[in-house]
Amino acid sequence: MATERVYNFSAGPSMLPESALRTAAEEMLNYHGSGMSVMEMSHRSGVYQGIFDSVKAKLKSVMSIPDSHEILFLQGGASLQFSMIPMNLMGEHGQADYAVTGNFADSAAKEAAKYGAVNIAASSEDKNHTYIPAQSELKLSPDAKYFYYCANNTIYGTEWGYVPEVKVPLVSDMSSNILSKPVDVSKYGIIYAGAQKNMAPAGLTVVIIDRALAGNELPITPLMMSYKRMIDKDSMYNTPPCYNIYMLGLVLDWVIEQGGLAAMQKLRDERSSMLYSFLDGSDIFRACAEPGSRSGMNVTFRAKSPELEAEFVKEATAAGFVNLKGHRSVGGMRASIYNAMPVEGVEKLVQFMKDFEVKRHA
Ligand SMILES: Cc1ncc(COP(=O)(O)O)c(C=O)c1O
Repeated sequence: MATERVYNFSAGPSMLPESALRTAAEEMLNYHGSGMSVMEMSHRSGVYQGIFDSVKAKLKSVMSIPDSHEILFLQGGASLQFSMIPMNLMGEHGQADYAVTGNFADSAAKEAAKYGAVNIAASSEDKNHTYIPAQSELKLSPDAKYFYYCANNTIYGTEWGYVPEVKVPLVSDMSSNILSKPVDVSKYGIIYAGAQKNMAPAGLTVVIIDRALAGNELPITPLMMSYKRMIDKDSMYNTPPCYNIYMLGLVLDWVIEQGGLAAMQKLRDERSSMLYSFLDGSDIFRACAEPGSRSGMNVTFRAKSPELEAEFVKEATAAGFVNLKGHRSVGGMRASIYNAMPVEGVEKLVQFMKDFEVKRHA
């Protein structure tokens, strides 16, 4: 049983900034003199509306979201967007381009194929999703309504190092790297993210959408899945995930205090370069993703044998470095080092790995 907080390398839900958790704890029973917890508030109350508006304003400012784009706070996880996107953007008998660089992009492409024609514009499956295809390799179709890609592949540990240049609206799943670096939102038709990595507890999906794209949903689209309806109702067509939105506000306060997205990027580079440079010099560990395609958020790696991997994960867990086991579909190890992971947590993990390596060579 842990008596202190551990270094939690989970891919999601994952670590949240301690200051956000502490503020939530302090405000749990009586939010700002309202006499109730945010959990107990009507989403139609003035106090809650104040929270909601301030979180939206903070996100708009932190991500420099232009006025052309709307912020939506939805439910259904990132996965519901796999269906919402084609239902709202493809049109009848439409077509879309998908880059398949991992299993979440693959699931999104398969879901989209239920509503129209999907062109696989690129796939990294030939090398077990260890790389990101180059711009020159994208096979774009002339009739696509949009281009879809997953900016960071949580399971395989790869991340797009460039923004694809296409003539149609860009749609991106940023579930596992949103808020980790500045992004030019004006280049995108839709950015979306399940909140449970860099934003808030699980249960909230943030969608940032160019308003010009809304209003073209297929007639069968459920109202709950219409971007237009959600824009018109400011995400309150029904009860939104109230508490998670409040938590996002506390996380954004922390991001702002640290210096915003430029500071997040500096920290993520510090954390990830420390781990990758150790892995590249190691005799018993190796990084899975190809240099140039490596994720700054999810570092996937292997040891020389499955036995050594099991031993490593067990000893690391006992030492307070938890959730380092790779995704069940790929095996190996994965250190998810999102915004809230302190640099010191990675320093200590690298030291632990060095010591582990020395012991195994002794
Ligand atoms: C990149 C990415 N997309 C989509 C998902 C699915 O998210 P959800 O479980 O919120 O549907 C995940 C989950 O980890 C993810 O990492």
